[in-house]
Parts: sequence; C-alpha cells; structure tokens
Amino acid sequence: MTIIRPERPGDEPAIRAVVAAAFPTEAEARLVDLLREAGRLSVSLVAEVDGEVVGHVAFSPVTVGPGVIGAGLAPLAVRSANRGRGVGGMLIGEGLAACCTAGFGWAVVLGEPRYYARFGFRPAPGVGLADEYGGGDAFQVAELVPGALPVGAGLVRYAPEFASLDV
Ligand SMILES: CC(C)(COP(=O)(O)OP(=O)(O)OC[C@H]1O[C@@H](n2cnc3c(N)ncnc32)[C@H](O)[C@@H]1OP(=O)(O)O)[C@@H](O)C(=O)NCCC(=O)NCCS
Repeated sequence: MTIIRPERPGDEPAIRAVVAAAFPTEAEARLVDLLREAGRLSVSLVAEVDGEVVGHVAFSPVTVGPGVIGAGLAPLAVRSANRGRGVGGMLIGEGLAACCTAGFGWAVVLGEPRYYARFGFRPAPGVGLADEYGGGDAFQVAELVPGALPVGAGLVRYAPEFASLDV
C-alpha cells in the first residue's frame, strides 16, 4: 500500500536519495535541501511503501508581478522500481490539495503537458504567463482556487534557490 504524507524530520536522507536517483545529476536533490534550509519548502510530501520512501514532490513559492504568490511544483521524483503505478499522480494530486490548504490559489509546473494535463494543468502562455527558462507550453498552470489565476501577469519567477539548477 502506498501512503502519501508530509515529510518529517529524519526523512531528509531518504528524500535526497530518491530525488538524486531520478535525475542525471544531484542538482535537484541539492535544490530540495536548499529550499528546506531557506524555509521555502512550502509543501513537501513523500510516498511511502512498506515504510520506505519511494517518491517525493516539492512545492515552493513562485512570484509574478508585485507580490502575487503561487506554488511551483519541482522537483517530482519516483524510484524507478515504483513507477507506472500512479505514485507520481498521487504525489501531484495530494500536493496540489496541500498547496490549496496552505493558501496557494494557483500552481505552476515545467514539464511534459501530456502528463500534467490530467491534474488540471494547462499551458501557461495561453493565460499570459511565462517562465524564466523559455519553457513555452511546457510551462503550465493550474487554478486551485476559482478566480485566483493571475491572468496576463507575465513572468513567473521561481525561488532564488532555483538558480543552483543548471537548466
Ligand atoms: C515523472 C515520474 C515522477 C512519474 O512517476 P510515476 O509514479 O511513474 O507516475 P504515474 O504512475 O502517476 O504516471 C505514469 C504515467 O505518466 C506517464 N509519464 C511519466 N513521465 C512522463 C513524461 N515525462 N512524459 C510523458 N508521459 C510521462 C507515463 O507514461 C504513464 O502514463 P500512463 O498513466 O498513461 O500509463 C517518474 O517517471 C520520475 O521520477 N521520473 C524522473 C524524474 C522526472 O522526470 N520528474 C518530473 C520532472 S520534475
């Protein structure tokens, strides 16, 4: 059985291992540590199977215009042996719900549109939002609270810790 729960003290090494294994370099794992240290790991959920952490999702604040704040989903990682069974989907769904509870009205992600569309994400350029990395339609937004989408607000900036990523 898969349990999705907020990270708790002591999970850090297991999260680091799962995230590092899911990406070509350890940059994403380091990013999670940096966000946590900066107090910007707004939502951090783990997927646990038989008491072992097999997946993780992080959300951190993003800003657009003067002080409008949303949630940025990144990174998302599931251990290769546990993929294709909905674990990533559970982390996204529960993560978005947790963001809503935490007061975020909208969320963004930079990723494969075919995957994220099923969770309510749509291309952000279509509502006048852009990212710092030239993601185009891979930069997507989901409205968590009706009416909260900052339509036409322009450039969305991720937390400063993202500068450590070589993207
Ligand atoms: C992306 C990832 C988290 C998905 O985890 P998962 O537990 O397998 O996800 P789910 O089981 O919920 O969903 C699997 C489905 O998503 C699809 N999918 C996953 N990644 C995809 C991608 N990059 N592009 C297109 N489709 C993708 C799978 O083909 C599968 O499709 P299906 O449901 O039609 O069979 C996992 O593959 C992973 O850790 N990848 C490496 C890290 C990464 O790329 N993270 C995302 C960017 S931050």
